[in-house]
Amino acid sequence: MGDVLRLAVERVAHGGHCVARYEGRVVFVRHTLPGERVDARVTEVRSGFLRADTVEVLTPAAGRVTPPCPYAGDCGGCDWQHAAPATQRELKAVTVAELLTRLGRLDPAEVDALGVTVEELPGGPLDWRTRVRYAVARDGRPGLRAHRSHRVVAVDACPIATPAVRELPVTDRRWHPRTELSVVSSSAGDPAVLEHRSVRGRTVTRRAYGVGEVVERAVGREFRVPAEAFWQVHPAAPDTLADAALDLLAPRPGERCWDLYGGVGLFSAALAAAVGPDGAVTLVESGRSAVAAAAHNLGDLPAVRTVAGRVERVLPTLGDVDVVLLDPPRSGAGREVVTALAGAAPRAICYVACDPAALARDAGTFAGLGWRLTTLRAFDAFPMTQHVECVALFTPAD
Ligand SMILES: C[S@@+](CC[C@H](N)C(=O)[O-])C[C@H]1O[C@@H](n2cnc3c(N)ncnc32)[C@H](O)[C@@H]1O
Repeated sequence: MGDVLRLAVERVAHGGHCVARYEGRVVFVRHTLPGERVDARVTEVRSGFLRADTVEVLTPAAGRVTPPCPYAGDCGGCDWQHAAPATQRELKAVTVAELLTRLGRLDPAEVDALGVTVEELPGGPLDWRTRVRYAVARDGRPGLRAHRSHRVVAVDACPIATPAVRELPVTDRRWHPRTELSVVSSSAGDPAVLEHRSVRGRTVTRRAYGVGEVVERAVGREFRVPAEAFWQVHPAAPDTLADAALDLLAPRPGERCWDLYGGVGLFSAALAAAVGPDGAVTLVESGRSAVAAAAHNLGDLPAVRTVAGRVERVLPTLGDVDVVLLDPPRSGAGREVVTALAGAAPRAICYVACDPAALARDAGTFAGLGWRLTTLRAFDAFPMTQHVECVALFTPAD
């Protein structure tokens, strides 16, 4: 711990760091790029590997830039502030392909054939985050946690947040230590600040500012979104992902669709428009406030049925299906759900994934059940961070 090592950085790895070797041991190094020579301080020693943070770049890579954020390096919110946006997308594409072969155990030739690239969303690498979760430091100042640490790095302004989020009365105030703050500014301009406090092991949430439910606009409609419910954080993501998913699934008039982990109804609205009045869309969602919002948001679409419950419980009751869209949380769908989906025998399954590692594991399960990952699109819906959103199409292998 604390030693400074001179390293030749080899390749990128999942998690927002790169891999180097020191006396035969793997070192996961942050704030560097493949091909660089750096001095890096050891931050963690494990039996199989070390972690280190770059302290000096001796030979910079072509994609290196000066981080635009003054908190870069200390704040754990971003991973690639020091990489040009095109380089960030290349690193993410390599990571997605590597996870599919390493974690998903897909045939490398099949993964090569997918030609994974990460597509840029409009708006640039800063000013995009419409939702920020702040931790509160001991002195009451909001900020973001340092990487793999509980330490809070107080910030006056987070440059990846939208200007509207930055202007909300949050970072200029002092808050109760040990609380967390959810800060939202919606595409319709509605503000919301929720304060989450842990009381005897339970999280108690109160509205500190703004409204309890914001309005978002996407796929030509308006959606009511409870401030605590899920909505894509990049303003261009809802339309981009809905377009990509519909393009891959190509739902036909009259078809029956499932929208699993459906949130407040984004994809169901798009699916309902595609299958028309003779089709059927079943949305399944477990969050109570999200289910109520979805029922309201989709109330004018007679093809849509909203089912409250956990996907793994509800699936056996849903009947027949032609196409499935699933958008699970970071943990992925898991073996039980993937097996049930394959058993339901739809003609196609579109998987929207915010964690490519979970997607890779589930892709491996699909492959073992005779399903093929036929198309994969990936989007840079989280610039400056290691995160990437994937839209994958699975079809039964011939
Ligand atoms: C990544 S979000 C996707 C929401 C929606 N598809 C969208 O794009 O706005 C995942 C959603 O799944 C819900 N969820 C998590 N676990 C679930 C489960 N086991 N069954 C049903 N819904 C679940 C969450 O409440 C959340 O709304």
